[in-house]
Amino acid sequence: MHFRTLIATVASLLLAACQSGEVPAPNAPTPAVAPILTGADAADVHSYAKPLEARVTNVALDLAVDFNAKRVGGTATLDIQAKPGVKQIVLDDKGLEITAITTVEGKPLPHTVGAVDPILGAPLTIQMGDAKKIVVTYKSAPDSGALQWLTPQQTAGKKYPYLFSQGQAIENRSWIPTQDSPGIRQTWEAKITVPQPLTAVMSAPRVGEPQATGRSRQFAFRMDKPVAPYLIAIAVGDLAFRELGPRTGVWTEPAMLDKAAAELDDTEKMVAAAEKLYGPYQWGRYDMLVLPPSFPFGGMENPTLTFLTPTFLAGDKSLTSLIAHELAHSWSGNLATNATWADFWLNEGMTTYAERRIVEEVYGPKVAAQQVALGQDAMNKAIADNGGAAGDDTRLHIDLKGRHPDDGLTDIAYEKGAAFLRTIEAAVGRERFDEWLKGWFSRHKFAPVTTSIFLADIREHLIKGDAALEKKLALEEWVNEPGIPTNLAPADRQAFAEVDAAVAAFKAGTQPAPEVWKRWTTDEKLRFLTRIDKQQPKERLAALDRAYGLANAGNSEVRFAFLTLAVAARYDPAVPALEDFLLVQGRRKFVRPLITALAADKQWGRPIAARIYAKARPLYHPVTVRDLDKLGLGAPTTDQALTAK
Ligand code: BES
Ligand code: ZN
Repeated sequence: MHFRTLIATVASLLLAACQSGEVPAPNAPTPAVAPILTGADAADVHSYAKPLEARVTNVALDLAVDFNAKRVGGTATLDIQAKPGVKQIVLDDKGLEITAITTVEGKPLPHTVGAVDPILGAPLTIQMGDAKKIVVTYKSAPDSGALQWLTPQQTAGKKYPYLFSQGQAIENRSWIPTQDSPGIRQTWEAKITVPQPLTAVMSAPRVGEPQATGRSRQFAFRMDKPVAPYLIAIAVGDLAFRELGPRTGVWTEPAMLDKAAAELDDTEKMVAAAEKLYGPYQWGRYDMLVLPPSFPFGGMENPTLTFLTPTFLAGDKSLTSLIAHELAHSWSGNLATNATWADFWLNEGMTTYAERRIVEEVYGPKVAAQQVALGQDAMNKAIADNGGAAGDDTRLHIDLKGRHPDDGLTDIAYEKGAAFLRTIEAAVGRERFDEWLKGWFSRHKFAPVTTSIFLADIREHLIKGDAALEKKLALEEWVNEPGIPTNLAPADRQAFAEVDAAVAAFKAGTQPAPEVWKRWTTDEKLRFLTRIDKQQPKERLAALDRAYGLANAGNSEVRFAFLTLAVAARYDPAVPALEDFLLVQGRRKFVRPLITALAADKQWGRPIAARIYAKARPLYHPVTVRDLDKLGLGAPTTDQALTAK
C-alpha cells in the first residue's frame, strides 16, 4: 500500500472508531488525529463546525504581518477528513476577508459565508468535493477580536510596534480560518513573515533559523501534537530570550528581561513539582513570554509558551502562583481539554487545584493553605455574585447556549472546581487521589473531556463500586446543582489566624502597626484588604494609605484590592492613583471590576469612569473593550465604533 493511502486508511479507521464512541486504549501512543466525541454533551454550541461530517486535522499557515494595515494575511492550508460521501466542510469565521478558496492545485472551490452572529461570527461552508486539502487565501480584519496591535509608544522599548493574539475562548476564528472548537484538535504549522528586526514567537517549537529576505524575516513553527485551536498563539515584537533552566526560559522586550528572569527564577522547580503530581511534561520546552501591560489576562497557557501579564512582576516572587497555574494547564487544559466551554471547570478547576499543589511543593504548606483559603473566599464571592446558592450559573457544568463563553469565566469554574477536587482528595486521601489524577491524564492525554467522562472515570478508577464512598462524594450534586454541597472540605481556619485577628481588631478601631504590615506576605495583605468591611469610612482608608502606601502599591494585586475599597467609599484622594492604574495596564480582571463599579455609581463614579475610559480604551485589548463598551460610558468616536467588537 502506498504510504499516503496507508495514513489515510488508518486515519479513517480512527475516525470511524471515534464515531462509534470507542475510546482508544489508555496507553496508546499519541494519535496524530485526535478523536471527536459523539455524546450530546460534547456538541459545541459555540462553533458552526460539524466535525462528525468533516473535520480539519492539520492547519498550515503562511502569513505576513502587516503593522501598517493591522492585518495578518496569506494562506491557510487545511487537511480535511470527511465521512464517506460528505463533500462539504463548515469552518468558523469572524470577519475574515477571504479572496480565494482552492484545492492545492489551484482549482477554485465554491464557498459561502452564512449569517453573522454577533458572538459566534459566521459559518464558512466550503464545497471541497473529494479534496483532502484546501487552501484559503485571506486576511484578518483590522478589528480582529484576537489580535492587539500596539504602537511603539505602548511598548517598554518605545521603538517598535508589537502584535499579540489571545485565542481563548472563541477569538481565533478572527485570524485563522478553521474549526474553532476545543473538541476538534488539530496539529499545525506556520511560516510567519515579519518586518526586520522584529521576532515572531508562537505556541509551538520553532523550526530552523529565521530566513532573512530583504526587509523582512520569516520564522517557522510546528506543533506536531494535536491541540485545541484556541491554543494557537502568536506574538511579534522586539523580543529577547533568556534561558532559566534546562527546559525553561523567558521571552520579553529587552528592557524587561532582567526583571522577568529574576521573578521567574523558580520555574524549573515548578516544572519538577508539576511532573511529580501529574506525570511527565509532554511538550518539550516550557518557555514564557512576558507581554506589554495591555495583555488582557494574568496568563494564558499557550503550549510551550505561556503568555503572561507584566503585572505579576512584583519584585519578590509573591505573585508567581500564576506560573504554577499556567504550567498546570500543560496537563489540565492542554493535554485533557474541555470538549466545550460548558465544561470549562474541567480546565480551570483542576488547574487551580494543581496550582496550589505545586505551590505547596515549591513554597511550603503554609503558603498553599493560605492560597486555598483565599480561593474559598473568592468562591463564596462568586456564589454571591452569581445569584446566591440557588443561582443557575453557580453550577460547574454550566448552560451557555446563546451566551458568550466568557459568561462562564467566573470563580465558580476556578474555585468551586478546585474545592470539588480538594473535597475528593480529602475523602479518599492524598495518595489514592494522586494515583487517580495521574491516571486521568494518561487515559485522556491529547483528548477532549466532558463532565460525564470525568464522572465515569472517577467511578471506574477511584470509587470502584464503593457505595458508601459514592454517597460521601456527592459527585452529581457538585457538578449539576447550584451552590456548594455540605461535604466541602473547608479551608484551614488557622491559615490566616494572625490576619483574621487583625481584621477583628480593625473593626474595633485598631489598625495593624506598619511593621506588622511590612512583615505580612502579599497573601496576608490581600486577606486583610478583602476581609475588612467593603464600605469603609474615608478617614480609615486615608489612614491605611498613609501608613502603608496602598493607592500606589508596587504590588498590582494589593493596589487593586485597595482601589476597590476606594471606589466603594468614593474616596477622592485615590482617584489620581486609580486613573494611573487604569492607564498603565489593561488586565481585564483589574480594569473591568473597577470601571464597572465606578460606572454603577451614577453620581460620583460614572463621570470619573467616562473620563478615564475615554483615555484608556485605545490602550486595551479587544476582549477587554468588548465588555467595557457595554457600560455605555459615552459614545465611542467613529474610529472607536469601527473597532468595537
Ligand atoms: N486560560 C485562562 C485564561 C482565559 C480563560 C482566557 C478563559 C480566556 C478565556 C488562564 O489560565 C487563567 O486562568 N488566567 C488567570 C490566572 C489565574 C487564575 C492565576 C487570569 O488571567 O487571571
Ligand atoms: Zn487557567
